[in-house]
This record gives sequence, structure tokens and C-alpha cells, in this order.
Amino acid sequence: MNVGIIGAGGVSVFHYQGYVAGGATVVAIADADPLALARRQREWNIPKGYSTYQELLADPSIEAVSVCLPNALHHPVTLSAARAGKHVLCEKPISLSLDKAEEMIRVCREAGVVLQTGHHLRSDSASLRTKTLIDSGALGRITFMRLRQAHDWGGAKSVRDSFGKLANSGGGTLLDNGCHMMDLARYFGGDVREVYANIATLGFDVEVEDTSVATLTFASGTIGSVENAWTATGWEQAFWVYGTEGSLEYSNRTGVLTHRFRSSPGTTFGDPDISHTTFGGRDAHTACEIDFLAAIRGEREVVCTGEDGLEAVRLVLACYESAKQNAPVPLAKEALIPQELPHG
Ligand SMILES: NC(=O)c1ccc[n+]([C@@H]2O[C@H](COP(=O)([O-])OP(=O)(O)OC[C@H]3O[C@@H](n4cnc5c(N)ncnc54)[C@H](O)[C@@H]3O)[C@@H](O)[C@H]2O)c1
Repeated sequence: MNVGIIGAGGVSVFHYQGYVAGGATVVAIADADPLALARRQREWNIPKGYSTYQELLADPSIEAVSVCLPNALHHPVTLSAARAGKHVLCEKPISLSLDKAEEMIRVCREAGVVLQTGHHLRSDSASLRTKTLIDSGALGRITFMRLRQAHDWGGAKSVRDSFGKLANSGGGTLLDNGCHMMDLARYFGGDVREVYANIATLGFDVEVEDTSVATLTFASGTIGSVENAWTATGWEQAFWVYGTEGSLEYSNRTGVLTHRFRSSPGTTFGDPDISHTTFGGRDAHTACEIDFLAAIRGEREVVCTGEDGLEAVRLVLACYESAKQNAPVPLAKEALIPQELPHG
């Protein structure tokens, strides 16, 4: 399968690697920055480089594209790609507005193309194992979960404008990292009934928040917390899921999923049964592109749909409103939730 990558910045590397691992051929890249474009073409030996996404989309040899552009561009470029008959793997957050996300879903459906949102943790081995254990009932009733994605931009003193300027990004870490965690929260825990969030800009000179904590109440009654930061030293992507019959803990820092439970006689207060699973093999980003290619070939359902992307944005929007009001925001009260994030 011939694919194109639109946007040659940081995340494009994962898309390129994923397509190569999945047996697709990246035949073209587009980027408005000639230096970024030339660098990727050189690094990856890509024959065609375009300065506009429209030129790439006009290439009839391309069947599918990754949209790896700043958030505000996900909507127009996905619409154009679908109308050009290309399957779309759109980076997260799917869009900065619920209406626009709905339009992306509708236009892709009408064009008969696959739309996948780039919440790659849906393709992650530890997440998949966790979901299997939750669904099997091994953890009993899920009571509490904690999800965390945090970093410090690798120690950088400033944040790229794609992320730090409101007009490009629409939001800070709550949107950028938080939409992944909101998607994972829904994947593990189902529908969310209410959110209560606290955000702050503490570490960087940016127009958006760089630190956030949100509390979620699920329709099931499960309680959750989502922590996101650009102000936490070192990269961590982690989750903790607790149930009446067992618990799971995972962090990328160890690569180990720890399952605690009680089935042996004589387990003690601090010493339950423990099993550890270590995950090697393919990276979740790579798996995300492989899943996308498989969905295009009709071999599997779309691992993270446009609707999933939209629901993650809905939760983030509700969190921003909650932080603004300093009050819980119920998801059922749509009137309380703004329909879009600020952007240019
Ligand atoms: N799934 C993940 O874990 C993950 C990780 C990082 C980024 N992302 C998402 O990927 C997207 C891109 O992030 P990034 O880190 O690659 O950003 P980036 O700033 O490194 O790269 C963005 C690229 O888009 C190009 N660009 C901007 N406007 C353009 C236009 N009109 N036409 C063509 N090219 C244009 C820029 O020149 C730049 O090279 C964002 O939506 C981000 O949220 C997802």
C-alpha cells in the first residue's frame, strides 16, 4: 500500500516507522517548512516531497495518509483527504471542535474511507492486556483508576509554537496529553458521567496550561484521576487500575504490568499474590499504523474511531469548563460543555 505523511515534524517519525513495519510504502511527505521536508526526504529516502498537503492529496498513487499537522489543521486536512478518496490516520486530538469532529466522521463515512484517530495507546500491549483482564472480571468491580502522561519536553527551556500557542494547539497538556488519557479512561472504564479539573501554567512561558489534574466519575460509579504535565521531569506514561478482586499497575518506566490479587491461601495485608508481565516487541506507535493498515484491508475493526477521538475531546472540553468554573461538570448536561476549543 502506498501512503503519504502530511507534516514532517516530531510525530511523523512514528508514522514512518509504523508504515515500514506494516509493509506499506511511504511514497510522499508534505510540509510547509522546506528544511523539515528536505530532512525527512533525505533521512527516509522518500521520492516525493510537497510544500502543500493539497499537492500530496492530488497524487493518485497514494491510498492513505497520516495527518501529522498542528491540531488546528486536523479538520480541514482530513476533510480534503477523505474527499480525495484517501484513508486517514489523523493525529490526536481529532479536532478542536465537536462539530468539526462530527463533520470529519461524516465526510469520511460518505467517502467510504477509514478514519482512525491516533490514540496509539489503544494499540499498546499493556493497555490491551489490561482491557482483557478488566473485561474478564479478573479485577472484580473496578473501583478506582489513575492515568498519567507527563514529561518536561526533554528538559527544553521553551515549548514549540505548535503546542504553546493557543491558535495552533487549542490547549495545553490537558488537551495534548490528556486526550490520550481520556481515551484510555473510556477504553478501560466506559462512559464518564462527570469531570472536575484543575489546571495551571507553572513551568513555561506559554499561552496554555502546562499542568493539570482531572477527576472523573464514570457511569459505572468508578472514580478516576487523570494527571498531565509538561512540568514533570522525565517521560512517564502510566496507569493504575484497582478493582475489588485485583489491581494492575503499569508504567513505561519499567515496562512491567503488575497484577496483584488474592487466590493463594495465606496472603497477608501487604503481601498479596503478584504476577508481572513484561512487554517487549512492537512499540504502540508502530502498532497503531499496523492496525490502521489492517483496518483498510478489512482485516479488523478500526482500533480507535473518529467517534472515540470526538469523545476524548468532549471530555477535555468538559474539563476546561470545570477548571474555569471551579466546579464539577456533568457530561449529560451538554449545554454546560463548550463545543470548541479556542484556536485561530
Ligand atoms: N500520538 C502521539 O503520541 C503524538 C505525539 C506527538 C504529537 N502528536 C500530534 O501530532 C501532531 C503534530 O505534532 P508534532 O509533534 O509532529 O508537531 P511539530 O511541530 O513537530 O510538526 C508539525 C509540522 O507541521 C508542519 N506544518 C505546519 N503547518 C503546515 C501546513 N499548513 N502545511 C504543511 N505543513 C505544515 C510544520 O512545518 C511542522 O514540520 C499534533 O496534532 C500533535 O498533537 C501526537
